[in-house]
Amino acid sequence: MSDLRLGDKAPNFDAETSEGKINFYEFLGDGWGILFSHPADYTPVCTTELGVTAKYKDEFEKRDVKVMALSVDGVESHKGWIEDINSTQNTTVNFPIIADEDRKIANLYGMIHPKADNTLTVRSVFIIDPEKTIKLMITYPASTGRNFDELLRVIDSLQLTANHKVATPANWKNGEDVVISPAISSEDAKNIFTKGFKEVKPYLRMTPQPDKK
Ligand code: BEZ
Repeated sequence: MSDLRLGDKAPNFDAETSEGKINFYEFLGDGWGILFSHPADYTPVCTTELGVTAKYKDEFEKRDVKVMALSVDGVESHKGWIEDINSTQNTTVNFPIIADEDRKIANLYGMIHPKADNTLTVRSVFIIDPEKTIKLMITYPASTGRNFDELLRVIDSLQLTANHKVATPANWKNGEDVVISPAISSEDAKNIFTKGFKEVKPYLRMTPQPDKK
């Protein structure tokens, strides 16, 4: 079992994928990445998830995010399944799916939770920043499809906080007010947050979302 934690370097790997042999770090380049696992090919929830991911291509590109999926089935199985995804979900799969038959990468990233299933991966998601640091890990059970709008929302939050001394509040969406980091004094905040801020409590100060860099 892997003991990866937020802040750890995402492990690099070479993988057989539906788009040929790929080195993970080379694939990511200098941008952001999402690595996410699926229990198995030719399963209904996974089919919808990969269809949505393909449809969100422009949203990922806007945020400079490369996406790579993983399941423990082989390349030929992936290729046949991709045809099904394309026809049933009315899209074109436009990202690689790792064929992790020996479960090397699944184990490296802790995507197999033996008490849920001994051999198949659960629905893990890793968001990785341009320095290859793991910024988010989430784990869903096989029976629950993930919310890809939530992944975009988290990426928006991560990219904002990477460039500004802010955090994002509950249910925040891109464009809404954000929270000033508690590490900033209200005196300093006057100079930093030129759009102004509202002090609800000394520790709870809201400011309009800074412009993204
Ligand atoms: C699915 O993708 O539909 C699925 C996979 C494994 C268990 C349950 C559902």
